[in-house]
Amino acid sequence: MGYKAVYDAWKADPESFWMEQAKAIDWVTPPTRALFDENAPLYEWFKDARVNTCYNAVDRHVENGRGEQAAIIYDSPITGKKDSITFAELKDKVASLAGALQAKGVTTGDRVIIYVPMVPEALVAMLACSRIGAIHSVVFGGFAANELAVRIDDATPKAIIAASCGLEPGRVVPYKPLLDEAIEIANHKIDFTLILQREEHPCDLIADRDFDWHAAQDGVTPANCVPVSGDHPVYILYTSGTTGQPKGVVRPTAGHIVALNWTMKNIYNVDPGDVFWAASDVGWVVGHSYICYGPLIHGNTTIVFEGKPVGTPDASTFWRVIAEHNVRSFFTAPTAFRAIKRDDPKGELIQNFDISALRGLYLAGERADPDTIEWAQKVMGVPVYDHWWQTETGYTIAGNPAGLEALPVKIGSPTVAMPGYDVQILDEAGHPMPAGELGAIAVKLPLPPGTLPTLWHAEERFKKSYLNTFPGYYETGDAGMIDDDGYLYIMARTDDVINVAGHRLSTGAMEEVLAGHPDIAECAVIGVTDTLKGQLPMGFVCLNKECETPVEQITKDCIARVRDTIGPVAAFKLVSVVDRLPKTRSGKILRGTMVKIADNEDFKMPATIDDPAILDEIRAALKPMGYAGA
Ligand code: COA
Ligand code: AMP
Repeated sequence: MGYKAVYDAWKADPESFWMEQAKAIDWVTPPTRALFDENAPLYEWFKDARVNTCYNAVDRHVENGRGEQAAIIYDSPITGKKDSITFAELKDKVASLAGALQAKGVTTGDRVIIYVPMVPEALVAMLACSRIGAIHSVVFGGFAANELAVRIDDATPKAIIAASCGLEPGRVVPYKPLLDEAIEIANHKIDFTLILQREEHPCDLIADRDFDWHAAQDGVTPANCVPVSGDHPVYILYTSGTTGQPKGVVRPTAGHIVALNWTMKNIYNVDPGDVFWAASDVGWVVGHSYICYGPLIHGNTTIVFEGKPVGTPDASTFWRVIAEHNVRSFFTAPTAFRAIKRDDPKGELIQNFDISALRGLYLAGERADPDTIEWAQKVMGVPVYDHWWQTETGYTIAGNPAGLEALPVKIGSPTVAMPGYDVQILDEAGHPMPAGELGAIAVKLPLPPGTLPTLWHAEERFKKSYLNTFPGYYETGDAGMIDDDGYLYIMARTDDVINVAGHRLSTGAMEEVLAGHPDIAECAVIGVTDTLKGQLPMGFVCLNKECETPVEQITKDCIARVRDTIGPVAAFKLVSVVDRLPKTRSGKILRGTMVKIADNEDFKMPATIDDPAILDEIRAALKPMGYAGA
């Protein structure tokens, strides 16, 4: 069957479609039905089943003859280390760590924060939690201690599994001081930590609170897989919303396993045994779905790559990894390709590598600009598939189902809605818009299995953020259109979320940090276009009248504050001190207009603007920073 037939079959009978996909999963108690809509507009899938994620990702492959196949290939161009872990070895490692967690009192439903960089142990920790029904929450290494503390207070974990350090090119990032500070400032108190000592930067342990990863496993009984109900959360992953309080996206166990398994063949076109590589980070949803769970559940070999597209050591790293490990399908963010293209514009370095095993490049996480797609196609000689999804969904909303039927690529479009998603473009009143017209992108409820059923302990926020604007629909927060052929185009966010190097960040959160500066009266943070990272945050700050601090110092303070409070990943380096901010007569800051001025785009003077002259002041402030057509 081709794409249309499958999509139509899903639409005609979603229940049968998902029950059919569920057959590929090993259940302890199989589901009697797929959708549970008793609490609509809150939906659940496969709720009456009992199942274990880790069993499906690891144990069943050992039992089915894949024990000697590599489950994880670790490749760190930063340390020069490489490793390969078979499914059988992975099972032992996971069962042992899970046993250590159990021995320290972690049980089904407890939360465990994982603060481990791109080493195989990050996956071992995730799988160990899911093995015993503990709910993990991985925190990205580029966040500051405060962000970790916010997550500790929201998830209220019993334990934290952390590494002693992360490694950025040319710089060790000691995790332990960040961890200690976060534990100190969080209101919630954890029971214990497990620390993975890395030889690049071991850390001191606090007696009775911090336990060594290996020592804690000495003599413990390996844990068996604990069956959980289909709606049990396998993890919570925090993502940026419009405020400084991140949203705890809940991932339900059964739908997650079923849906990810479906995507591996139908979207990523890999068969069990093939090598699949997502060059992202376990701290992001891509890392959860496609470094850890998706490939392993499907019996693929996954690659844990601790490096960057450039500088580790150069722009040929991706080609080397693809060639050396026979990667079949490769997934990364467009920004990584822009970085490679900048360093090796003609793509000459690829000539030294045989990447003939590769069948496709998949891009997501931010808008894939046509130049990047065309360059990648030319240099790599494989199809380049843009696909669109979000932390909330956990897998593709719109993509090119290459394993089912590769549809013609239209550059600029992530292609079409996947089975499970009835994507529609709505006007402000929630009416569907005609083809070709721009509007809010919404998905008709229910969302498919594996997508977020709610936010962690925040059901009202879930409804307010996603369900209330368009009753009967999930509001994606993106705007765009669908053309006459059903191809979707993602144009912009409708909220204060920006995308910096494929990382989702909240300008509202940065404004909260800047507003805390004693000299700052008010501020606005916008996302300006950047040729490498897609967008960069830029702050405008107005100072208190009595402020005597020099402007240069204010600028330095602002940059340091965002770095220290949110983290280096915010990449906040552009600040301008201005006298006033452009506002409507009712006092709303005209951030959208400021973005247009910065990007030197045409814009319509907002009818409600209070004082148009302020826009000239903003333009004048932008030019020295290289924006507004400077
Ligand atoms: N731990 C600690 N610090 C981190 C970090 C981590 N895991 N990840 C990033 N940082 C730091 C960086 O060192 C950098 O610090 P600096 O300001 O001192 O230089 C800062 O955060 C910004 O990082 P980044 O946005 O990654 O910029 P970069 O200039 O280091 O690299 C790219 C640019 C394009 C090469 C890089 O962003 C990249 O590889 N992107 C791919 C994106 C991706 O995989 N996205 C996931 C979604 S699919
Ligand atoms: P995240 O939750 O971090 O995955 O970010 C999701 C957001 O990134 C989406 O809502 C979009 O705004 C953006 N995004 C992701 N993939 C794409 C894509 N292929 N094209 C355009 N924007 C994308």
